[in-house]
Amino acid sequence: MRSVPARIPRPDYAASGVPSDRGARAVRTPDEIEAMRVAGRVAAEALVEVGRHVRPGITTDELDAIGHQAMVDVGAYPSTLNYRGYPKSLCSSVNEVICHGIPDSRRLQDGDIVNLDVTAYIEGVHGDTSATFLVGDVDEHSARLVQVTRAAMHAGIDVVRPGARVHEIGRAIESVALPEGYSIVREFIGHGIGDQFHTSLQIPHYHDPRHDTVLVPGMTFTIEPMVNLGSAALEMWDDDWTVVTRDLQRSAQFEHTVLVTDDGHELLTVPAVGPPAEERFAGIRLGTEPVASGD
Ligand code: MF3
Ligand code: CO
Ligand code: CO
Repeated sequence: MRSVPARIPRPDYAASGVPSDRGARAVRTPDEIEAMRVAGRVAAEALVEVGRHVRPGITTDELDAIGHQAMVDVGAYPSTLNYRGYPKSLCSSVNEVICHGIPDSRRLQDGDIVNLDVTAYIEGVHGDTSATFLVGDVDEHSARLVQVTRAAMHAGIDVVRPGARVHEIGRAIESVALPEGYSIVREFIGHGIGDQFHTSLQIPHYHDPRHDTVLVPGMTFTIEPMVNLGSAALEMWDDDWTVVTRDLQRSAQFEHTVLVTDDGHELLTVPAVGPPAEERFAGIRLGTEPVASGD
């Protein structure tokens, strides 16, 4: 594991690997919301920084080092580091990997798609965001999957407002992804987030009316649909982390952390300046064109 300077405050699991369950408050205090804006901004800016380096030939471990440094440089702890024993500072999920891929010495290849998922802990709370990037010259089917997955995430985000029910989010995501013939992963879902990385609030990305919790101002949670070209069936590698499609067809994912406001929602995982990675790099074949720095 990469080291984090001792001066940087750590989440409760940093040493043991085991998060403590301090009870599930779904609604954040005003001070926590201010802190969540900071954590969300830090995660979003780290994701832009790693996104700028995506190109054929770079290893996912090199991207991990870049994300780690971007967080540590601003005084944040990379939340994934030793979370339930996870060994790296971000997740990198290439092609048929659905989620929780572990950065390693594999070089990204021309035509790959890669989801990079960054979570930052700072001011006592977490911000969690991810995007799927196109490596070089990606085939049209994969590029379409990525574009539709991003649109599906936004359809889910757009229904977030006080009075809406949780299941409306999954219904909106389905309405974008299913007509394309894609499938939506069921085993991994969005989650409440705050002083804990994952709280008990569950946000499925498929429609299930039993999830009838009413959204109220101050709730913070992620929306992070995983959408597959083929079937939704999955398998876990024997590293106990890497989740892949059983049919080995590709999977894409995007994630934001959102706040329920008095009149709608606020995206928390946005940079201080410029658009978030999911927008900045949307549809861009990275490593084939002039660097998409966006600023
Ligand atoms: N960031 C992931 C999520 O969206 C969780 C990664 S947990 C890890 O919830 F342990 F795999 F890093
Ligand atoms: Co998440
Ligand atoms: Co995440």
